Amino acid sequence: DQNKFQAIISHCKEYGFVFPSSEIYDGLSAVYDYGQYGAELKKNIKDYWWKSMTQLHENIVGIDAAIFMHPTTWKASGHVDSFSDPMIDNKDSNKRYRVDHLIEGYAETLDPEKSKALLDQMEQLLKENDLAGLKTLIETNNIKCAVSGTANWTDIRNFNLMFSTQLGSVTEEANEIYLRPETAQGIFVNFLNVQKTGRMKIPFGIAQIGKAFRNEIVARQFIFRMREFEQMEMQFFIRPGSQKEWYEKWKEERMQWHLSLGTDPAKYQFKDHVKLAHYADAAVDIEYEFPFGFKEVEGIHSRTDFDLKQHEKYSRKKLQYFDTEINQNYVPYVIETSIGLDRMFLLTVCNAYEEQDLSTPEKQDSRVVMRFPAKLAPIKLAIFPLTKRDGLPELARELMDECKQAFHCFYEEKDAIGRRYRRQDAIGTPFCVTIDHQTKEDGTVTIRHRDSMEQERIPMSAVKALVLSKII
Ligand code: GAP
Repeated sequence: DQNKFQAIISHCKEYGFVFPSSEIYDGLSAVYDYGQYGAELKKNIKDYWWKSMTQLHENIVGIDAAIFMHPTTWKASGHVDSFSDPMIDNKDSNKRYRVDHLIEGYAETLDPEKSKALLDQMEQLLKENDLAGLKTLIETNNIKCAVSGTANWTDIRNFNLMFSTQLGSVTEEANEIYLRPETAQGIFVNFLNVQKTGRMKIPFGIAQIGKAFRNEIVARQFIFRMREFEQMEMQFFIRPGSQKEWYEKWKEERMQWHLSLGTDPAKYQFKDHVKLAHYADAAVDIEYEFPFGFKEVEGIHSRTDFDLKQHEKYSRKKLQYFDTEINQNYVPYVIETSIGLDRMFLLTVCNAYEEQDLSTPEKQDSRVVMRFPAKLAPIKLAIFPLTKRDGLPELARELMDECKQAFHCFYEEKDAIGRRYRRQDAIGTPFCVTIDHQTKEDGTVTIRHRDSMEQERIPMSAVKALVLSKII
């Protein structure tokens, strides 16, 4: 499956989905740019999430908070003190490793029983933040560095994942501020602003999509773990004591969202967190089976009243809600759903990618097809005049003008039709329409379906409604 993954990465680059950042300077590690089709796909995923969260939930509203926040935010949230990964350096190769990744990598080489025992030990030590114990674990197992083949390690230290920069010029009194490592805090600090101005009643949610930054040391697997990425998060504010019920509800609802895109349920699983984040009393991941194994796409976290209470303490402002139903003031509890947009993008691409052998006894043939759900596809409809003559381009342009207000269309008149179809398959366009001489006579066109490659004749006037019915 590593080969398939490499093929997917190459495909993403060749067809304008994802490029390495600043590639002419040899790229920047764990930073990527989205190309012309990638940007469309990403936007469609965003829109699908945003609509399902806000438009379809009367009690959830969306905001767009700034990336920069008052530095005390991150003291209060616990990120300054606790948002770190234990790291270790190999003295011979000068390579730095995340301790858990190093041990996990080694565990993969062991038989299942030993592997599990080692990972259980590791999880326990991580939970206790026992750095010396972790080092002993590495040494007693004689875990070697993959590069230099030696087991010559430094001590372990915690490495904070937040990026910092200076606000204001150096001549002024400069303030160190952080690039947010999660979007959630922008929601917590605005909790009362939204509740009051929107006259929101508990239970209610606040959703947000935006960039987050983490100085990940081990950046692996293409866009799976990036240093600059986007999150789609929703904080759901509830009455204390009702967290179990809402946690289960959101777990279920988020899984249904994933399945609503038509993905095979066998590709998904829940995984409870063993090591809970500093703010959570329960947490679960929704995992998808990537070509490199089941991995986290989304987290559902029961964050208690930790964040709001911390912000009350540090800001000395009350962040309470008066519940008229029970005549009580309280700091709400929070259930959070947090999905990485880039990870959802990678999931969508991996799930859609298919190499098909179309050979017949007469002729060898194959295609790569991206079987995106129609509502996520970058281009919905490609319009091809069969030839550049005989008034066919004019007719095709008429259809283009009719449809392009409603959804993204692509017009092309070069090359044989077969080659034009293949290019659309490679970017996942669900429908192609060909305008030919018969169109001039009876007003019908050929519509070709991406997945089945079946073709049918329908009136040109029916094309727009047909495509619309598949993408809403
Ligand atoms: N507010 C909670 C929070 O940030 P998280 O589990 O650290 O929780 C949530 O992150 C989601 O963000 C993850 O499930 C993943 O999809 C995405 N994510 C986290 N770190 C990422 C990274 N370095 N690159 C890409 N996506 C990332």
